[in-house]
Amino acid sequence: MAKVETQWTSEMSFDSTVNNHRIVMDSDPAFGGKEKGPRPKMLVLSALGGCTGMDVVSILNKMRVTPDSFRVIAEADIADEHPKVFTKIHLTYEFKGKNLFLGYYDPVLSMQGELNPDLVVLSTPVIPEGNKELGQSLRLPVTKDGFFMEAHLKLRPLDFATEGVFLCGMAHYPKFISETISQANGAAVRAATVLSRDTVVSSGAIAEVQEDECIGCGLCANMVPDLFEMQDDKAVVIVDVVPAEREDAAMEAKDSCPVEAISIS
Ligand code: F3S
Repeated sequence: MAKVETQWTSEMSFDSTVNNHRIVMDSDPAFGGKEKGPRPKMLVLSALGGCTGMDVVSILNKMRVTPDSFRVIAEADIADEHPKVFTKIHLTYEFKGKNLFLGYYDPVLSMQGELNPDLVVLSTPVIPEGNKELGQSLRLPVTKDGFFMEAHLKLRPLDFATEGVFLCGMAHYPKFISETISQANGAAVRAATVLSRDTVVSSGAIAEVQEDECIGCGLCANMVPDLFEMQDDKAVVIVDVVPAEREDAAMEAKDSCPVEAISIS
């Protein structure tokens, strides 16, 4: 267990002894401090820079790389209200040197490579959240990365396979704002072609039960007997097309199936 004792000395000033090194902390004079040392909160960022920086130096040592200079810049956003926690921390690792190189792996070519770049900019990943659940409720497919998947990359890039639903921007994948705006314009025009009609004819929903998956619990047949029935301990769909007024009931049965054996398209 790690332990550090911090001693109040006077006014807003505190002393900590960390690994036999004394650290003095103080507050802003506006809050009663005397500027005897750094603010405690800033020391958290300092520790983060030092800790991650040491890891980086250790990696560089293993690679037998010694940069001319290396610094870690920690920038943080702080909440306006108390407790004024860090809401976002951005770390920049800045190296300077002559023989620095960048090793990388290209998954497309399945090969390792090396670059001698002037500048390396690493960006944080964009990770979609909640798309899978939204896709399930709207019956829209998502890619294995969790972004929404268009009906056809080249022929229908703004459409989903589900008629009348269109996509653009970050829902599709991370992209530049100019591309997002072009795609949004296109999606709006596609939507207008549907909304401008007086009537829309729907093909109706098709329900299916994956026979291999069904465990024969009978839940769907009990819930919606006009759409599902049990035959030889397996559920089967008894209509070719689910009537529009029974689509919600069919979706409820689909969501209730314990093994997700029902699909509706
Ligand atoms: Fe049960 Fe129907 Fe699913 S019988 S396992 S709810 S398909």
